[in-house]
Amino acid sequence: MPKISEKGKKMPASPIRKLVPFAEAAKKRGVKVYHLNIGQPDIKTPEIAIEAIRNFQDKLVAYSHSAGYISYREKLVDYYAKNNIHISADQIIVATGASEALLFTMQSIMDPGDEVIIPEPFYANYNGFATNAGINVVPIFSAIETGFALPPIAEFEKAITPRTKAILVCNPNNPTGYLYSEEELKVLKEIVIKHDLFLIADEVYREFCYDGRKHHSVMHLDGLDDNTILIDSVSKRYSMCGVRIGVMITKNKEVYASAIKFAQARLSPPSLGQIAAEAALDTDSEYFSEVLAEYHKRRNTVYESINRIKGAFCPKPSGAFYVVARLPIDNSDKFCQWLLEDFNYNNETVMMAPATGFYSTPGRGLNEVRISYVLNVKDLNSAMNVLEQALKVYPGRTI
Ligand SMILES: Cc1ncc(COP(=O)(O)O)c(C=O)c1O
Repeated sequence: MPKISEKGKKMPASPIRKLVPFAEAAKKRGVKVYHLNIGQPDIKTPEIAIEAIRNFQDKLVAYSHSAGYISYREKLVDYYAKNNIHISADQIIVATGASEALLFTMQSIMDPGDEVIIPEPFYANYNGFATNAGINVVPIFSAIETGFALPPIAEFEKAITPRTKAILVCNPNNPTGYLYSEEELKVLKEIVIKHDLFLIADEVYREFCYDGRKHHSVMHLDGLDDNTILIDSVSKRYSMCGVRIGVMITKNKEVYASAIKFAQARLSPPSLGQIAAEAALDTDSEYFSEVLAEYHKRRNTVYESINRIKGAFCPKPSGAFYVVARLPIDNSDKFCQWLLEDFNYNNETVMMAPATGFYSTPGRGLNEVRISYVLNVKDLNSAMNVLEQALKVYPGRTI
C-alpha cells in the first residue's frame, strides 16, 4: 500500500473536536449536552450581510483578485482607520479566514525548521498551521496565577535561538481571554527589534473587550512597520464563521510580495464570502454594543460560578469569549470524556475542551479546561451547575 507523509502522521487532530463522538453518543442516549467546547458564537449574523448574499444578481460566481476584491479592501481601510490602524488597500491580502492568513504568513516568512515563539496556552490550531509549514513552535509559559499575562522578557530571551523568526501573540487571547496591555506590547516591540524578528498578532477578537478596557493593536506600535503582520477575521466579529473571510495585513513590502504568491497559487478567496463581509462593514454600532453587553453578562456568569465551586479557580478574562479554569481533577482529558460518557445530572451534561490541547509542553494543562461562553446566561447557569455536581462525584477528583 502506498504510504502517507510523515507530515500527515505528525499533523495534530483538533483537541476541541476529538470528544465529538462521545458527545454524539451521549445525545443518542437522550442526554442534553451543553456545548462549552467550541468557539462558534450563537449570536445572529448582521442581517445586512445575509441580505447582501440574497441580493447577489450575477449570472456566475467568478474568482476574485487573489488579494481580494478591491472594493472590500478599500472599505477595510476605513474600518481599520476607525481603529487607529492606518494602512492602504495594497497592504491587505484577503484570505479564507484567519486560518489561511496564518498559513500564508508562516509560509512566506519561515522555512522548514525555523521557529516561532508563542506564549502557551495558545489557540490549538497554531500547531496544525506550523506542522503544515514545517516550522517548530517554541512555547513559553504564561501562568494561570497571573491571569495568563505576557511572560517576562527573560523567558523570551531564553527561548530565542538562531532559528527563531517570529513571535506570535493572540490578543485578546483564545483560550485565556487575556487582553495584552499597551506596556506588554511595548515589551514585545523591544524584543523583536533587538533580535530582528517578525511579530505576528492574531487580533480576531479585537471588538470583544470588557470592563471598558481598550484594545491595543501591534499596528499601533511605532517603528515596527517591517516587523508586524496582522491577522484578522470576520468569523467572530460579525458571527459569520462560515463565510470564511479573514485578512493578512503587512506594511513590509517583501513579506507582502512573498505572501501574494501563495495567495495566487490558490487563486482567490471566496467571492460570496467577501460580498457578505463587505456588507457587514456597514453593521450598526448598536449591534456591537448589544453583543458586547451579552458577552459581558456571560463572562461574569462563568467567572463567578467557577470561583464559587470548591477547589476551582479562573482568572477574570478581559477579552474574547473564553476562560481557562483550573479544576480539582487529575486529568482534564479523562474528566471531559467522563462527563460525556459516564455522567449526567438530571439527564444533562457539559462538553468542554481539555486545556492540554492548548499547551505544547507535555503535562501542562492537566487540571485545566477551556470554557467558551457562547451560550445564553440561563444555559450557562445550568451548565455551571452540572459542572459543580460532576466535580462532587468524579472518581479522579483531587479534593
Ligand atoms: C485565535 C483564533 N485565530 C484564528 C481563528 C480562525 O479563524 P477563521 O474562522 O477566520 O479561520 C480562530 C477561530 O476560532 C481563533 O480563535
